[in-house]
Amino acid sequence: MNSTAVPAAEPSPAIEVSHATKVFGRRPREVVKRLRAGASREELRGLGTAAVIDAGFSVRPGEIFVVMGLSGSGKSTLIRMLNGLNPATEGSIKVFGSEIVGLDAEGLRALRRERMSMVFQHFALLPHRTVLDNVAYGLKLRGVGAEKRRERARGWLTRVGLEDWADSMPGELSGGMQQRVGIARALAADTDVLLMDEAFSALDPLIRREMQEQLVELQQELDKTIVFITHDLNEAMFLGDRIAVMRDGRIVQIGTPNEILTDPANDYVAQFVQDVDRARVLTAGDVMEPPRAVVFASAGPRTALRLMRDLQTSACFVTSAGRDLLGVVRDRDLLRQVREGGTDLTEVLRPTPSIVSRDQHIAELFELAVESQLPVAVTDGSNRLVGVVPRVTLLAALADLPPSTTEIPVIEPTLDVPAAAITEALETAPPGSGPPNAPDADHEREGADR
Ligand SMILES: Nc1ncnc2c1ncn2[C@@H]1O[C@H](COP(=O)(O)OP(=O)(O)O)[C@@H](O)[C@H]1O
Ligand SMILES: [Mg+2]
Repeated sequence: MNSTAVPAAEPSPAIEVSHATKVFGRRPREVVKRLRAGASREELRGLGTAAVIDAGFSVRPGEIFVVMGLSGSGKSTLIRMLNGLNPATEGSIKVFGSEIVGLDAEGLRALRRERMSMVFQHFALLPHRTVLDNVAYGLKLRGVGAEKRRERARGWLTRVGLEDWADSMPGELSGGMQQRVGIARALAADTDVLLMDEAFSALDPLIRREMQEQLVELQQELDKTIVFITHDLNEAMFLGDRIAVMRDGRIVQIGTPNEILTDPANDYVAQFVQDVDRARVLTAGDVMEPPRAVVFASAGPRTALRLMRDLQTSACFVTSAGRDLLGVVRDRDLLRQVREGGTDLTEVLRPTPSIVSRDQHIAELFELAVESQLPVAVTDGSNRLVGVVPRVTLLAALADLPPSTTEIPVIEPTLDVPAAAITEALETAPPGSGPPNAPDADHEREGADR
């Protein structure tokens, strides 16, 4: 590859799968050959089951990559191809750059011990060992000494809230607790990749949701590469950075939750999407719009007031020149300030009523949106204003309407004071010396630039 010419935009993938096929049955090679010649999976039933056909995707380090599809679509087969439990019949699978297709048994064992741990749907705990020993098991396989592995295992049990259960037997624990043991065990093994096959599917809905939230929380710290299998699109959308949708052994779409939701590749995906709880999937970053009612703190009150009159809005955001969000100003306050000859709008600055980060789900925005007249402000990690979510946008996103559809009745706040009063104040010379508008004439240009 002539990688010198092109700057590397993406980190090299943790897992890279190309043209990977898995056929169970009597004559796998023959099936691969005929599939390539255009035969359908059904036609070849007699020769074998093509469980995964020509799969291709790559998983970035630190990503939660979800594989979703109905039962029998090939998800488990695919994830087991990644760690060689189901060796691929055909194709290439690279883990951190190393090809694993064709590895011998010892090579595959080393791969599973050192690079990829797996969490199964039915926990797969050793029934006659204590919870602590179960968690320490992977470390034992890796030759870590007894004292050390117990200490580490205890640490992971604490992380999943089970420190008091270390000496219990798995059978004494509820399903949710057993699965937490399974996760602690996988984490204790300290591999870069976690493979999770329907890990939460056997749990009650409430526990399940709690586990999803705990996984996301853990992941924010651990930054593992996670391949997560589920047949539940809500779970997929909540957890996944990206989702691959499988049908009949083939991957039919790969995209972010937002892409899958707003642009399903076909009817199969669209049908899944119908039942999705959009408020728990879409984030502020997905639906936000460019902020329009914004002025720099250095702009005068006249600039702000004119902008608000033109946009018919009773409040506007104020930022520093570096776009740090400083607060909001209201038309009423500014009108008074202009009439009194004030020139520093930070004197009437108020705190921003509602601020969220890009990755907050819109479910969390409703209350904020109701409480405040202003759109919800979206900031990045360093308090820079990157967008706004007006109430209209929030409702449109839920109803799956295109953003900024003009048909939606506008319920956004308008001016609190009559526009004519603003115009009159702006046209009146400020008390004291100087021609009208002079004090902040420079800043107006600045304000108009955005
Ligand atoms: N060990 C196996 N031997 C034969 N067929 C299998 C085996 N494992 C899975 N299959 C078949 O492969 C297809 C995909 O199964 P699977 O990967 O378990 O799907 P999913 O996990 O999406 O439910 C199914 O038709 C299943 O019967
Ligand atoms: Mg399965």
